[in-house]
Amino acid sequence: MTERQTSPTVLETADVVILGAGPAGLTLGNLLHAAGVDCVVLERADRTHVQTRARAGFLAANTVRVLDRHGLAEGLRRHGRPHGVCEFRTEDGSFRLDYGALGRREQHTVYPQQDLVTDLLTHYLDAGGRIAFETEAQSVQEAAGPRPTVTVRDAEGRPGRWSARYAAGCDGRHGAARRSLPAGTRRYHRDHGVSWLGLLAEAPPSMDAVGYAMHPAGFAGHMARTADITRYYLQYERGTPADAWPEERIRAELDLRMRTAEHGPLHHGRIVQRTVIDLESDVIEPLRHGSLLLAGDAASLPAPAAAKGANLAVLEAELLAEALIEDLAHGDSRALDRYSARCLAHIWRAQDFAHWMIQFLHSPAGPDGESFFHESMRRSRVESLRTSRTHQDWFAENYVGI
Ligand code: APR
Repeated sequence: MTERQTSPTVLETADVVILGAGPAGLTLGNLLHAAGVDCVVLERADRTHVQTRARAGFLAANTVRVLDRHGLAEGLRRHGRPHGVCEFRTEDGSFRLDYGALGRREQHTVYPQQDLVTDLLTHYLDAGGRIAFETEAQSVQEAAGPRPTVTVRDAEGRPGRWSARYAAGCDGRHGAARRSLPAGTRRYHRDHGVSWLGLLAEAPPSMDAVGYAMHPAGFAGHMARTADITRYYLQYERGTPADAWPEERIRAELDLRMRTAEHGPLHHGRIVQRTVIDLESDVIEPLRHGSLLLAGDAASLPAPAAAKGANLAVLEAELLAEALIEDLAHGDSRALDRYSARCLAHIWRAQDFAHWMIQFLHSPAGPDGESFFHESMRRSRVESLRTSRTHQDWFAENYVGI
């Protein structure tokens, strides 16, 4: 593996400067480099952090197809595990949904994101791709013009500049690309009013399904990550620090909400990561501003209730790579002109489903009549999903689909 790093203190150039080495940035970098486009990835973290950061892990069928198409799926084909069942544990009983046999009959592939990112990075470097680690983009200047300039600072704080034909903002919702958007860019934001305590436990999965528990005490979730790591979620009072609950209380809440008295014990294990997640969504419109284009979380943040983030990132990276290649290699900018609208169609579909999931999994707070009305509708939706094949097909198509 030839690791090539560049640390600019003077003006450097590339046809495409990619901000961020996450699923979006590294998929884009691989596809552009493979097509002979001169690109560079600028990543503020060091390589170890990029390769070990635990994030999502549920890859949609389309994501696997995209990665397969470009020879980037070897690791997930070898180590990923198919997953196609949800188990809902509710006040009105529990039921399992074999979503892999419903809708388009597509399953998820469970594959830790840090492993996917490591695969993408290794493939990119082995192919001779350029990356600058510990290089934080500060801004994208003259984005509206034909050659934007990306200003950066390296690990020693030295300034640098990259001149490019295009800048691809793949640096997440708090990155430099979003900060460089022109005034008046539309940002649609929704705070769903719900927070989760996200946990990673050194414990094997307790069920062969994604577990969703709806309980008067609050929502709880169970997702396999690997054969010996489980991701748990607990609905959590907004503003409570991640370390507020002792492990005993966490275990008791999980057992209570997952109704272990009825369904059998959970594997707990040592908690190795705690994160408070305020469930929010946002979308930037449009995703193209002259020579600056957004993909992944920089473009939109779907609430984590439907595991859409990494899958949208890979889909958008492929659409953006195709459009940039058409323009740079063939002088045809039509795909670039359509890029924003094509991605936004997928983004809003994912946002709508994530919003539906949040309403479906969480009881509204408060005893007032409005909350009672919503709670009654929520329980009716649960019953509809339990009994209606049409509803189950709709759920499966949207749960796995992108
Ligand atoms: N300069 C350079 N790099 C930056 C900057 C910056 N100013 N700001 C952020 N980054 C880097 C981060 O260190 C990270 O490596 O950009 C990368 C963004 O990666 P992700 O947050 O993973 O975003 P994305 O590739 O869009 O993937 C989106 O994947 O992480 C999962 O589910 C999660 O929804 C998310 C999805």
